[in-house]
Amino acid sequence: MKEDILKVLISEQEIAQKVAQLGAQISKDYAGKKLLVLGVLKGSFVFMADLMRQITIPCQIDFMAVSSYSSGVKTSGVVKIIKDIDIDPLDFDILIVEDILDSGLTLSYLKDLLVQRNASSIHIATLLDKPARRVADIKPDYTCFEVPDEFVVGYGLDYAEKYRNLPYVGVLKPEVYEK
Ligand code: XMP
Ligand code: MG
Repeated sequence: MKEDILKVLISEQEIAQKVAQLGAQISKDYAGKKLLVLGVLKGSFVFMADLMRQITIPCQIDFMAVSSYSSGVKTSGVVKIIKDIDIDPLDFDILIVEDILDSGLTLSYLKDLLVQRNASSIHIATLLDKPARRVADIKPDYTCFEVPDEFVVGYGLDYAEKYRNLPYVGVLKPEVYEK
């Protein structure tokens, strides 16, 4: 597994430090609010587990699982909901937690959906932001690291469902894709 990694982009220590800072910021910003931390499966689960333990105010958590419909090479922006939220979002201040904001199509779809369901507020926290590939008009409200336009894995992020268990974020060797 490790032998497939070209380079470590963000170390375990750097991640822990940023996640702690982010948790403190969120705890301040959401004090007195009805916070629902909503993870988007599967990629967000490692980040979410670490982040929520750095949040020091009362909150509820829930998850959604989605997949994007891709027609040929282009993603359409239409998202298929595989697992919906269990909690009624009405009157919650929702913080969507994602692994990476890439084209932004997935999160802009999810955000619109939650607006329709009358959430009080909706904000986005992503571990990684890859602005070079943005298509939708969307930005993370909270993010830990900006990454270049390279395919990254680890700390929840996968390539073909593998590498999620790496404790850092790394770039895959090209020969892994070409295999
Ligand atoms: P969009 O384009 O809708 O995509 O912002 C979001 C989802 O695409 C996946 N994604 C990646 N996964 N390494 C990954 O392991 C990457 O570099 C990468 N870029 C996008 C990810 O699942 C994200 O939730
Ligand atoms: Mg994802």
